[in-house]
Amino acid sequence: QPILLADYTAFGWLIDQVELEFHLAPRATRVLSKISLRPNPDAPAQDFFLHGEELRLIWAKINGERITPEVSKTGLTCAVPDAPFVWEAEVEIDPQDNTALEGLYMSRGMYCTQCEAEGFRKITFYPDRPDVMAPFKVRIFGEDPVLLSNGNPVAQGEWHDPWPKPAYLFALVAGDLRAVSSSFTTASGKDVELNIWVRPGDEDRCDYGLDALKRSMKWDEDVYGREYDLDVFNIVAVDDFNMGAMENKGLNIFNSKCVLASPETATDADFARIEAIIAHEYFHNWTGNRITCRDWFQLCLKEGLTVFRDQQFSGDMRSHAVHRIQDVLMLRGRQFREDNGPLAHPVRPESYVEINNFYTATVYEKGAELIGMLKRLVGDDGYSQALDLYFDRHDGDAATIEDWLKVFEDATGRDLSQFKRWYSQPGTPRLHMSEAFEDGTYTLSFAQDTPPTPGQDVKDPQVIPIAVGLLGANGNEVMPTTVLEMTEAKQSFSFRNSVEGWVLDGPAAAERISGAAPEKPTPSVLRHFSAPVILERDITPETLGFLLSHDTDPFNKWEAGRALAKHVLLTMITQSTQPDALYLDAMAQVAADSALDPAFRALALGLPSQDDIAQALFDSGQTPDPQVIYDAGQSLRDALAAHLEPALAPIYDAMACPGPYSPEAGDAGKRALRHGALGLLSRCDGGARAEALYQAADNMTDQTGALTSLLAIAKGGDQVQAFYDQWHGDRLVLDKWFGMQVSLAKPDQAAQVAHSLAEHPDFDWTNPNRFRALIGGLAMNTAGFHHESGAGYQFVADWLIRLDSKNPQTAARMSTAFETWRRFDADRQDMMREQMQKIAAHDKLSRDMGEMITRMLDAN
Ligand code: ARG
Ligand code: ZN
Repeated sequence: QPILLADYTAFGWLIDQVELEFHLAPRATRVLSKISLRPNPDAPAQDFFLHGEELRLIWAKINGERITPEVSKTGLTCAVPDAPFVWEAEVEIDPQDNTALEGLYMSRGMYCTQCEAEGFRKITFYPDRPDVMAPFKVRIFGEDPVLLSNGNPVAQGEWHDPWPKPAYLFALVAGDLRAVSSSFTTASGKDVELNIWVRPGDEDRCDYGLDALKRSMKWDEDVYGREYDLDVFNIVAVDDFNMGAMENKGLNIFNSKCVLASPETATDADFARIEAIIAHEYFHNWTGNRITCRDWFQLCLKEGLTVFRDQQFSGDMRSHAVHRIQDVLMLRGRQFREDNGPLAHPVRPESYVEINNFYTATVYEKGAELIGMLKRLVGDDGYSQALDLYFDRHDGDAATIEDWLKVFEDATGRDLSQFKRWYSQPGTPRLHMSEAFEDGTYTLSFAQDTPPTPGQDVKDPQVIPIAVGLLGANGNEVMPTTVLEMTEAKQSFSFRNSVEGWVLDGPAAAERISGAAPEKPTPSVLRHFSAPVILERDITPETLGFLLSHDTDPFNKWEAGRALAKHVLLTMITQSTQPDALYLDAMAQVAADSALDPAFRALALGLPSQDDIAQALFDSGQTPDPQVIYDAGQSLRDALAAHLEPALAPIYDAMACPGPYSPEAGDAGKRALRHGALGLLSRCDGGARAEALYQAADNMTDQTGALTSLLAIAKGGDQVQAFYDQWHGDRLVLDKWFGMQVSLAKPDQAAQVAHSLAEHPDFDWTNPNRFRALIGGLAMNTAGFHHESGAGYQFVADWLIRLDSKNPQTAARMSTAFETWRRFDADRQDMMREQMQKIAAHDKLSRDMGEMITRMLDAN
């Protein structure tokens, strides 16, 4: 039943043209297709199989003659000529009944599609695989005023897309929509019409997305030399959507949460996310659409690269340092968790049952890290030459990871065969480091080791770029960032003191200074987080404090503070100590250091996640107790609040942003620090300032910032009610209302809070955003979800069962709440296993969920 990478064969036919005609009706949409095929000379055989699911075939013809194909649950086959021919068919589908939100479905009266990965087969019979590319002509007949599809408009409801594309990039939208429009002139002078289509009433929430789109278009021209290639670029906001957004050619479809924003309804984090997702989907036009994937195993070819590109873009738009920290937080929070549990899989998987289960942090975020490492290894020039070659050589192709690595080899002359292991070896490498200092030579020794992952016990050494800088005793940088290339299981690198300062020892190293022996330098290792590994070393809190004060690499400066916090929490937990004064003093200094970017200071004040601490305890052979971890976090926050108290109010006041709200990074950073200070202050003033801020707030960032500070100290009842009264008519804001209450509830109350909110008349569980806000909110409340009563597990499992029969994709994705189950004590393991078995036993178990549960239970 699993599909294997090794089994790939080309489709027997090439498609010269696809013509589609849609006659829209909610319960009975008719789809007519006309497909011109000819034998594919590169295919081993001319087998003819068209995918098709949940379609009612009305008739089919080959070269105009009626035929009776053999139809199964997954598709059809029939005898075909061994020459070019024309396939025609008419099918009927039921968009209203489509609750999986895959294929053509309805979202609050509006027609829309989601075809990636395999949704097109629910629209008509077709070779629904990414290596079959064709130009499409589409005609839509329906009562709605707005009828959209891919490509350029030809007439009302009629669209031609000249660029050959796979079926997963097909899209159709119909509804009573309004456009907010603008235009963009490409570098070569072509005018492109830009539209964001929304429901009436949402027009005032499009400006930011439109602006982000224009900046993305310009950036891709400036940085990658990529221009847009159609006359129009349409974006549509849809309320019911399984994912964030989709890069359909010329017609991107967005979860409304990921595109609609106004100061009153969206937070700073929402604005930043919208900017990144708009860019991401736009960048797919080249990395994904013009060059697509040969098969779904190659998903990281487009996703890893496009995430990397959107991260570069966000860094350019905002702050590189702050963005890198946020990206690493996300990588560690989601990808490391995946990579160190039963769902670990290679960046390029080699088998799957349901491809939708592989749109993961590993494919996306670790995939992006691999691009970053490649760029570091070949240098900026090598990278841009390789990318030029990639676009040149593969435009119009359905390509593979082999193709991708080959352009780097050809452009730079580098052998990447060892680097390729990153694509096939799952698991997070542990990088163990030790230091030696002898006769003026300073040596860093590394050993790499990747723990076994399901189905792969033995790992070969990988290429690890380790960016290192050295600091002198007074805090000066004595060696700027230097990239060490580790290729062996164990490897040492020596440095010596030369006339140019410290340098990597080797034939090219400058003359050693004779005379007085130098002092031992302090290393700053894995700068910029130069590889997705876990660095293990013995380091004292004092050295971490030193790095936090002096490191010139902003990522590592933050990382030192984070490591210190982790150290403090772990000793509090394992040795029942009080919070370390060294840490508290260091935080007091960072918080008040006005030379530092406020956004950076806000990030530095944050604590490691409870999950992070649980993993660290587990790695050191202990059994994490979620309640104990939660309690340690609370007392550390209390201690921080008490220690920083004199500084907090001044920070809070200084970080106010007078004047009208602006989502731009400067103000957003100030608000982040302000709200960080407020969270601590509320522990001292009983929430007085937070209540005042809530009262005065004129933007959603302040409103939610104040409310979360109150909820975190178990206050805010009145504000929760006021928030509801103000926003109950707004779907996106109401999601926040559900999410905040559950994710911030005390551990022993979380399941109960979730329970009663699930009874609330506004809890529409069929809407993925609402479901994720409430059920996902509980899963994110680590100590609440893992509460010893087991109520959290049961609540989540019951809802997953309910959703699974309607919307397998969203349900399966959320089942990852259980992926860490093996870390915990026997009681919790038993309870979680029992809930997973209950899910696996329900009568409408989907393929999606079945695969997830099997993987989680089977691995050990
Ligand atoms: N390609 C989309 C993106 O990266 C994600 C769509 C995933 N959809 C799915 N059904 N798995 O933006
Ligand atoms: Zn993507």
